[in-house]
Amino acid sequence: MVERRPRLESKVAIVTGAGSQGDGIGNGKATAILFAREGASVLLVDSVAERAEETLATITAEEGEASVFQADVTSADDCRRMADAAVERYGRLDILHNNVGMSMRATVVDVTEEQWDRIMTLNVKSMVLTSKYAIPRMIESGGGSIINISSTAGLRAHSSTPYTTSKAAVMGLTLSMAADHGGDNIRVNCIAPGLVSTPFVGPRMDEALRERRMRATPLGTEGTGWDVAWAAVYLASDEARWITGVVIPVDAGLTITSPVTYSPLAPQQQH
Ligand SMILES: NC(=O)c1ccc[n+]([C@@H]2O[C@H](COP(=O)([O-])OP(=O)(O)OC[C@H]3O[C@@H](n4cnc5c(N)ncnc54)[C@H](O)[C@@H]3O)[C@@H](O)[C@H]2O)c1
Repeated sequence: MVERRPRLESKVAIVTGAGSQGDGIGNGKATAILFAREGASVLLVDSVAERAEETLATITAEEGEASVFQADVTSADDCRRMADAAVERYGRLDILHNNVGMSMRATVVDVTEEQWDRIMTLNVKSMVLTSKYAIPRMIESGGGSIINISSTAGLRAHSSTPYTTSKAAVMGLTLSMAADHGGDNIRVNCIAPGLVSTPFVGPRMDEALRERRMRATPLGTEGTGWDVAWAAVYLASDEARWITGVVIPVDAGLTITSPVTYSPLAPQQQH
C-alpha cells in the first residue's frame, strides 16, 4: 500500500486574514486550518488578534502547528516584520497566502477618492507589500508558492467597480510576479472565488439571496471557505510544481455561464 504523506509536510506558511470577521469559517480561516492539517507550520496574520486566536484554537485542538502574528498588511513595516517572524519562529518560508480583501459597491460616479484609495490599498497594495518582504525569505529557503486571492468579480462586472478593478489588478499582479520570480523557483498563482458563503458576505444575505446565488451556477450548490482552501492546498503543494501564473476560478461554474444561457426552468421543463 502507498503511504499518503501530508501535502505540506515541513513547509512554513503565512496566511493573511487568517481569522474570520464573523461567526463561521471564512476563506482565510479555512485555508489556515487545512494548511496545518496538511503538515505546514502556519503564521496566522490578522489585524484583529482575537480573530486569529480563534483559528489558532482550532489548529491547536487538532495538534497542528501555528501561531498568531498581529499585523496590518497595508503597513510596509508590519509586512517586513511578518516575513521575519515566519523565519524566526519556524526557520524558513515556503508559502504566502494573500487572502486579505474587502468588497465595496459603487460606480465611478458614487465612489469617493478616499473609498477608492482604501480598496486599492487593502486589496492590491497589501499583496505587493507582503510579497516584497516574503520573496527574499523564500529565495533563502530555495523557492516557494504565493497564492493571491482575487474574485470572480475581477472577471465579470459585479455592481462594484472599485472591487472589480482591484480584483482584476490582483490577477495582473499574479501574472507579472509569476514571470518575474519563476527563476527564483517561486510560483505565483491566483484563486478567484465565486459566490462563496462565508462570514465576509453572510451579514448582507437573506435566505432568498442565498438561494439565488446558489442557483446562478451550473452545479447549483453552495460553496464555502473549504472549497477555496482546498484549491489553495493544491497550489501550495509540490504537486503543483509546474503550475505558475494561472487564475483558478472556484465558482461552481459561475464564470462559464451568463444570465442568457442559464435557464430558470426546472430540469423537466428544459428542452
Ligand atoms: N466570501 C466570498 O464570497 C468571496 C468571494 C470572492 C472573493 N473573496 C475574497 O476572499 C478574501 C476574504 O475572505 P475571508 O472569508 O477570509 O474574509 P474575512 O473578511 O472573514 O476575513 C479576513 C480577515 O482579514 C482580516 N483583515 C482585514 N483587514 C486586514 C488588514 N489590513 N491586515 C490584516 N488582516 C486584515 C480581518 O480581521 C479578518 O479576520 C478577500 O480577498 C475577498 O475579496 C470572498
